[in-house]
Amino acid sequence: MANPLHTRVCDLLQVRYPILQTGMGWVATPELVAAASNAGAFGFLAAATIRPDDIDQEIEKVKKLTERPFGVNFLMDAPGAEQIAAAIIAHGVRAAGYNRSPNAAIIEKFKRAGVICVPTCGAAKHAAKAESLGADIVIVQGSEGGGHTGSVPTSLLISQVVDRISVPVVAAGGFRDGRGLVAALAFGAAGVAMGTRFLLTKESPVPALTTDRYVNAGIDDVYVTKQVDGLPQRVVKNELLHGLESAGSLRRLWRALRSGLEYRQMSGATIPELVRSALSIRGHERLTRSQMLMAANAPILARKAMQDGDPVHGYLPSGSVAGVIEDIPSCAELVQRIIEEAEQTLRALSQE
Ligand SMILES: Cc1cc2nc3c(=O)[nH]c(=O)nc-3n(C[C@H](O)[C@H](O)[C@H](O)COP(=O)(O)O)c2cc1C
Repeated sequence: MANPLHTRVCDLLQVRYPILQTGMGWVATPELVAAASNAGAFGFLAAATIRPDDIDQEIEKVKKLTERPFGVNFLMDAPGAEQIAAAIIAHGVRAAGYNRSPNAAIIEKFKRAGVICVPTCGAAKHAAKAESLGADIVIVQGSEGGGHTGSVPTSLLISQVVDRISVPVVAAGGFRDGRGLVAALAFGAAGVAMGTRFLLTKESPVPALTTDRYVNAGIDDVYVTKQVDGLPQRVVKNELLHGLESAGSLRRLWRALRSGLEYRQMSGATIPELVRSALSIRGHERLTRSQMLMAANAPILARKAMQDGDPVHGYLPSGSVAGVIEDIPSCAELVQRIIEEAEQTLRALSQE
């Protein structure tokens, strides 16, 4: 019998196991990506929080740490997107990850260069659109997933999308172990993608003061809020969120303006570029003007928690799964454990 844990995704990504480590701003650094890929999973470098001028050097860092294939996840409508796409092609990166505002011209370039296109979608209609634009694999993220998230639970979204598109579907939102991997395969997916679980590994760059908040969170401590940047985001409750929820509009505006200025310094983007990017998000997500102003809050406030180790003033994007994760294994231990448990689960299911 064919190995059920060897799926079409393994062949497309040239990877041992059908497990993807997703792009997470400030978290999916070269060290984490290489550790995930060396463990037999497929890592995505998060380019949303890398200055476009630094992308070549960050891709080179991954290549020094692993000979295995990996991907780069980026925002196709952000300043510098063309530069990042060019770097992906020039460095022969195996896959490109993206989500909102897919850009047909960039996707076309990837297809010509043989880069595997892996968008993430939170709704069946977006998955169908992504396929028609050339996706080779579609990650579907259910509402349990971390960071920006939709409203359809993972268990319903997977089969809904599998029934609608023909390219392989990878399930995201709520995965952490081998039972989850087998369940995703049973729903028709060809693998799982995990963010929060990889954030909580030894090779994750996130300081302990911040990871402690995730490990100590219960399921009820992880909830969806629009207070960070106007869009629904799943986060671990903390002091910052409490403050934003009780703040008046002037304080929120002040917060958004400070983030905007810091973002400009961080990204090196010019003001017209930032405005163009915000307008494009606005068109895509139907954001109000005040939501547009808050757009820079997400990367800036995440940096405080993820890089500076300040879980009080930063925000903590997280999947619900943080509520049931209690340890920090290495990537190799994690991937091995998932595969062993998946094999054991498959054996138990096939016993008479
Ligand atoms: C800390 C954190 C940061 C994230 N940053 C990004 C990002 O920069 N770009 C992106 O497309 N998705 C981002 N996400 C979403 C993840 O890539 C992934 O889709 C999600 O975490 C999957 O759900 P899970 O956490 O239940 O595994 C982030 C998620 C987390 C937890």
